[in-house]
Amino acid sequence: MAERRAIIAANWKMYKVHTEAIQFAQKLHYLLDEDELKRVEVPICAPFTDLRTLQTLFDADRLPFKLGAQDVYWEEEGAFTGEISPRMLEALDVDYVICGHSERRELFGETDEMVARKVEAVFAHGMTPVLCVGETLEEREAGSATEKVVRQVTAATSDLSSTQVEGLVLAYEPIWAIGTGKTATPDDAQEMCATVRAQLEEMHGAGPAEKARVQYGGSVKPGNIEMIMRGEDVDGALVGGASLDPEDFARIVTAW
Ligand code: PGA
Repeated sequence: MAERRAIIAANWKMYKVHTEAIQFAQKLHYLLDEDELKRVEVPICAPFTDLRTLQTLFDADRLPFKLGAQDVYWEEEGAFTGEISPRMLEALDVDYVICGHSERRELFGETDEMVARKVEAVFAHGMTPVLCVGETLEEREAGSATEKVVRQVTAATSDLSSTQVEGLVLAYEPIWAIGTGKTATPDDAQEMCATVRAQLEEMHGAGPAEKARVQYGGSVKPGNIEMIMRGEDVDGALVGGASLDPEDFARIVTAW
């Protein structure tokens, strides 16, 4: 089996101004030792307005975190008021870009096709997409969760090369578990992460599918991370609410 390095990402969503971002990163660095950060990769996916500040801080103080954005538009530049291009993120040394988070899909109307274009644009600029997939409660109850997730994985990865699939990070996030305090059972998390990997294997072959990393997301907390991480196809977590507090987030990273 491929050795996959764990990846535990903070997704701050629309929280923290740039000065709060500095305080958080310094505190988190103080709470984690270097060995932990060799074992686990830790991207901080911050609002756009925090990225330049974090880039400067990570560089100046040699903080071993990765820099992440929460969204991107796929065009290089142009008359797209309010959008941020992959070129702009690349210029800030952004490593990871969340693509197709369920809040973007559900609240801002992002379609599978738009998400696929974002994923490709992120790769084209040398960054790594964190492709989010997941079902609603209605879909789970109707028995169509797997179908939905497979469809999302298919739509967003069908034009990718094997090398891109190897580098890809996916996040399985059941929508009913996001910010609700409900988590998928460890078995459900493992099962769907395995389904994601199986779909990658079917489309792109076993080699790339073994190397791609699949996170679980949805109410991950210090108290449930140990159960979640037992799944052999679960390679990390995408953490929303519990990533806002450096102590909680450090406990999640340390538990892995
Ligand atoms: P949550 O969010 O940890 O607050 O449930 C996870 C996410 O939306 O990425």
